[in-house]
Amino acid sequence: MDPIYLDHAATTPIDPKVLEVMIQTYQEVIGNPSSIHSFGRQARKVIDDARHKIAKYIGARSRDIVFTSGGTEGDNMAIIGAAMAHRKSGKHIITTKIEHHGVFRTCEYLEKQGFEVDYLDVDRTGRISLDDLKSKLRDDTILVSIMYGNNEVGTIQPIREIAHLLSEHQALFHTDAVQAFGTVDMDVKDTPIDLLSMTGHKIGGPKGVGFLYIRDGVTLASFTHGGDQERKRRAGTQNVPAIAGLGKAVEQVAGHLSERISDCLLARRSLLGALDSSGINYRINGNPEHFLPQVLNLYFPGTNVETLLTRLDLEGIAVSSGSACTAGSIEPSHVLTAMFGPDAAETRSSIRISFGSGNTPERVAQAGTVIARCVHDLVESGKAGETL
Ligand SMILES: Cc1ncc(COP(=O)(O)O)c(C=O)c1O
Repeated sequence: MDPIYLDHAATTPIDPKVLEVMIQTYQEVIGNPSSIHSFGRQARKVIDDARHKIAKYIGARSRDIVFTSGGTEGDNMAIIGAAMAHRKSGKHIITTKIEHHGVFRTCEYLEKQGFEVDYLDVDRTGRISLDDLKSKLRDDTILVSIMYGNNEVGTIQPIREIAHLLSEHQALFHTDAVQAFGTVDMDVKDTPIDLLSMTGHKIGGPKGVGFLYIRDGVTLASFTHGGDQERKRRAGTQNVPAIAGLGKAVEQVAGHLSERISDCLLARRSLLGALDSSGINYRINGNPEHFLPQVLNLYFPGTNVETLLTRLDLEGIAVSSGSACTAGSIEPSHVLTAMFGPDAAETRSSIRISFGSGNTPERVAQAGTVIARCVHDLVESGKAGETL
């Protein structure tokens, strides 16, 4: 069987249209966008066009978009930048227990710098409670960072409600929209988000490029020191071909959002259909109503996640145990731990399947049948006390 890639939440294959734009940019655009001669102006136009497309898609102004090297840098820039710029107004930050490490570890770093961080609990579906957030807000809270959609279980947070709640408060609102960007419609005009980070490689764009949206009037302390690029908010020569590719990838999302969502939902139904017809025991981890269509986290009682992933890899099926950054580590997922408790079976027996381009319903159903067979074998060998 040809291998089946079901790990699009880790990263996506590049969209051929994006690649085309990047190759053309590499070949034809040689200038530094900060140079004033025609070669520089040509490069400048490429990044201005990409900025314009991105800004238009999220309802922002071009000048509110800062190019970064991806999600992690955007998260760091937003959180450290906001904390350092606003520390005279307070040292309290609120985030959640299920953030990606790009946010989580940045908050831990700030705790070491003297900031106080509250990590909100989530329920068993991975959602925070607005009442809990309200009760943790203090006069000296300067930043709230809550992810749009979770990368491991796909749960979407009540971002609109949070943004409106915080618009009455001094605290800035940052959201890590890295996973949600390609399958959730987002508009910063309707939803008063102050800072929004995304990355290109989850939406068919290149790796190592992304952007941070910074609402007009929001000040951040810059932690790169050097040239005046990106209106002095991110020093360093921009990666022009990658930015051109990012612009094209966002344009592709903008033009095909509902198709992307329905393709992922179809793949999801195919996979669940194959599992249901096999009769194996499983449960979906996540929220049944508020979820990213491309992320499906499944609990298979009686299996060991490491063994299951190895078996599936040998069968040519690429899925994961959670975040790509922690997959391979023996640490149980902090997201599943926050949802189910430290010793819960879900933390040892769950896998993440994530859909994207190339995942036809037929191929996904085929993968579902193989997953069901592997799970069945592991459960049976576990009962018999064997090791596979
Ligand atoms: C929710 C979330 N935030 C941030 C990141 C980091 O993005 P990048 O790999 O572009 O640094 C990821 C990547 O897995 C993610 O899923």
